[in-house]
Amino acid sequence: VSSERYVDPAWADGERGRVFGQAWLAVCPVHRVARPGQWAVVDELGHALIVARGKDGVVRAFPNACRHRGTRLTDADGCGKSLKCPYHGWRFGLDGSLEHVPDEEGMGRWRKDRAGLKNVRCEERMGFVWVTFAEDAPPLADTLDGIDDELAPYRLDEMVPIAGMDRVFDVACNWKALLEISVESYHLASVHPYTVAPFVDDAPLHRTVRGDHQRLVVEVADGRFRGPLDRLTSRGGPYSPEQMRALHRYLIFPNLILNVLPCHVTLYQVWPGETPDRCRLRYAFMGRRGAKGLEWLRARASAVASRLVLQEDMPAVRRFQSGARLGPRTTHAFHAEEAALARYHAVLDRWMADAQAT
Ligand code: FES
Repeated sequence: VSSERYVDPAWADGERGRVFGQAWLAVCPVHRVARPGQWAVVDELGHALIVARGKDGVVRAFPNACRHRGTRLTDADGCGKSLKCPYHGWRFGLDGSLEHVPDEEGMGRWRKDRAGLKNVRCEERMGFVWVTFAEDAPPLADTLDGIDDELAPYRLDEMVPIAGMDRVFDVACNWKALLEISVESYHLASVHPYTVAPFVDDAPLHRTVRGDHQRLVVEVADGRFRGPLDRLTSRGGPYSPEQMRALHRYLIFPNLILNVLPCHVTLYQVWPGETPDRCRLRYAFMGRRGAKGLEWLRARASAVASRLVLQEDMPAVRRFQSGARLGPRTTHAFHAEEAALARYHAVLDRWMADAQAT
């Protein structure tokens, strides 16, 4: 692929419209809206959204903007019976309906029942709330191509972030650079010689394509301390022998990576920034709700190791971006251990071209 796609504003605009404007996006882990009455604020891609679970238990997504004069309704996650606009006091139910307008007669001839918050297409699946801005997008289940069934034993809706391990990083690189370093093993010996490389066996990746997504099976410390530890700390299931033995990494197009083991999950989600050389990484290390004893300890120890690995990745991706920005325009060639990247860019090319054709 050309280095152009990491720096070119026109390419970045195309990605926003043709990819992020069309795909299903996992905007919010379910734990943020676990109970009726909870809402979460999502600000990405220039969209301001509220994801809310109504008293009927249904999750919905709305623009975070009052239907009176567009004022932003709320800045933070919260819990309550309704959302009240801080400007003139219009009040909306968590199903989006307009419940109260102060001095309503002053609105003249109008239809209050048509002034509720507009629904954005939204589904709850695999421990996430997903939205799409495309009215004609296929159903989410069709686009996941069986990944949701594979992930069912892990019960991702039971996963909650470990304290201090749910962070958003503003990073000086294109969003794809951070995604890429998380799904290829070619850099391990060079960037992580002491933290990862000694624990990952040779030829670690068995890659499976699932529609536009990919699954990589990573044999981490197989046959050493991991096996017995996993058996003692794994709830959920039933897991396949491979799921018990190896870390499964899912690259879910366009911007989500999940590293899953029965006892913990790492989430990397990368959003384009305002310019092609900035992005926002949502990183969360999650353990199963109610973990105790060895399971609790194991998840926390793994979380510390995971953060260390992330810190080692950061200088590499910033340096990559610096090369893309200041170096000559080049064509990137991929190694066999970067096969996931070749496939990822082929899918990206198709999305960019398909949308151009329609
Ligand atoms: Fe929200 Fe007026 S802008 S009530």
